[in-house]
Parts: sequence; C-alpha cells; structure tokens
Amino acid sequence: MDAEELAMDEVVDDGIEADISTTEAAENAQLAEQIVLRAADVDVYYGDHWAVRHCNMEVRRNEITAIIGPSGCGKSTMLRCYNRMNDLIASARVAGSIEYHGVDLYDRRVDPVEVRRRIGMVFQKPNPFPKTIWENVAFGPRVAGIAKSKSDLDDIVESSLKKAALWEEVKDRLKTSAMGMSGGQQQRLCIARAVAVDPDVLLMDEPCSSLDPIATTRIEELMQEIKAEYTIVIVTHNMQQAARVSDRTAFFTAAVDEEAGVRFGELIEFDRTEKIFSNPSDERTENYVTGRFG
Ligand SMILES: Nc1ncnc2c1ncn2[C@@H]1O[C@H](COP(=O)(O)OP(=O)(O)O)[C@@H](O)[C@H]1O
Ligand SMILES: [Mg+2]
Repeated sequence: MDAEELAMDEVVDDGIEADISTTEAAENAQLAEQIVLRAADVDVYYGDHWAVRHCNMEVRRNEITAIIGPSGCGKSTMLRCYNRMNDLIASARVAGSIEYHGVDLYDRRVDPVEVRRRIGMVFQKPNPFPKTIWENVAFGPRVAGIAKSKSDLDDIVESSLKKAALWEEVKDRLKTSAMGMSGGQQQRLCIARAVAVDPDVLLMDEPCSSLDPIATTRIEELMQEIKAEYTIVIVTHNMQQAARVSDRTAFFTAAVDEEAGVRFGELIEFDRTEKIFSNPSDERTENYVTGRFG
C-alpha cells in the first residue's frame, strides 16, 4: 500500500481495521504455511513410565531443527512421534496432538506407512540391507510403487545417490554389497535410501554418533545442501554439531517430580540456535550448553 492510499484509509476508520486484520491474517497464513510439524501438549508413556511430558514444539519448512539434551531425556521418543515410529513399540502411548501440515498424524484415517514415506528416518547406526548398493536405494521406490521399470529405478538410484553425495564414490560398483562400504558411506547410503521415496521431512537420530570426524563433516555438509529441499529434525548429543548445523534448537532434560516420585523428559527451551547457545532464557539450558551439567 502506498502513502496516498494509507492517508485515504486513515479517514475511513473501518478501512484501516479491515486492512490490519487482512495483514494479520496474511501473516498468520504465511506462518502456518511454514510450519511442517506441530506438537501440542504431547505426552509419551512407555507403560507407566512417563518419557515425555507436555511437549509443544514447531518444526519449520526447510530448516534444520536440533533436539539436544542428556541421555534418557526423551529425544528419540519425541523424534519417533513425528513419523509414528512409536506405534511399533507395544508399550508406547502418545497423547496430545501432532499435526503435519495441519493434518492430525494420529487420526484413524491416516495411514502410518504413508506417514513414514513422507517423513523418513535415518538411525544412529547405519543399517543398510545386506544387499547391493543399487538394491538398497531401489527397494523403497519399488515397494511404494513410485517406479517399476529398471530404467526408472536406475534414474532414482542415481539421483538419490547424488543427493546423498555418494554417487561419484559408488557409481562403478552399484552391484556390489553395501556391507563393504565404510561407516560414513553406509550412513550416506541410508540417507540416499530415505530420499529415494521422495519424502518431505527427514528425521535423523544421532546420525553421526558412530562416525569419525571426517565422515561426520561430510554428513553435516550434506545436511546443509539438502535442507533447501527437505525439512530436517536431528537428534544429537553433540552440542557443537547442533550449533553448527541447526537453525533452531530444542533443549530437553530429564526432570523429577519429587512429590509424585516420577521422572520424565521435558522440553525446557526451544528457540533459534544462536539464542540457545549465546543467550538462553532458562538457567537449565545455560548450564547444559556451557557444560556445567550433563
Ligand atoms: N522401548 C522402550 N520401552 C520402555 N522405555 C523406553 C523405551 N525407549 C525409551 N524408553 C525410556 O524412555 C526414556 C526416554 O528415552 P529416549 O527417548 O530413548 O531418550 P534419549 O533419546 O534422550 O536418550 C528413558 O527413560 C528410556 O529408558
Ligand atoms: Mg536417543
């Protein structure tokens, strides 16, 4: 709106109000558009054990969101909520709501298999299938019916390996076993396997914890390269890694309710990574990031 229009609007009070509310609505719509995953009052239990309490957290599109905190504070548990992997644990129960692009992920009508195609996962220990490199990447798209012919699958294998920065290293040995690769290569293969089914979100649970520093750097660089295309949530016990790669950081800790005698994981602070590491709002976050605790 230019100055002249604004002056006109000032004369007509109602006009201004209407304009402000339209701007607000547009801003809200823009924010909603940015939010890929929204956890609201999420509680997770394993039997009687309260693993995560009242978690509220938003994950934004094309950002890397890091989850940090001491061992046992519920990081992996929270991550698994985002693609319904906790469904596969018999004792686990999730309460509260988790929305994916505004859709309740836990709605009865939502197919968990489709959820896991759109929201892929990379685990702590690289877990390639004991098959060839080609088979590892082609398996998902074939099962999901994304591609059937050999040549379509070849294309997906190539583009996925390129996205995972692995193509140049393995293009001449696609028909050899994935088990012969180094740990760092295997983890990039797992990333290629995850992206092969054309997901929207990648969940990574300590993806570098079994890798050496050089392989770790490769994965961190790769994350930076692919975040333009994906939304990434990474659990890491390595604070430097969170500080290096992420846009936002969630700090969890294990708290104790003395009265009730229960222990639970709790999200203490969630903010821009820069803020969490330089000027956190909560003393517990500060103690953790400065190494005084955990
Ligand atoms: N499959 C499970 N069954 C029972 N308890 C579990 C299970 N997985 C995790 N827990 C418990 O839930 C709590 C949080 O675990 P987890 O999410 O793995 O923590 P983190 O990833 O932060 O180390 C811990 O007390 C852990 O022992
Ligand atoms: Mg964990």
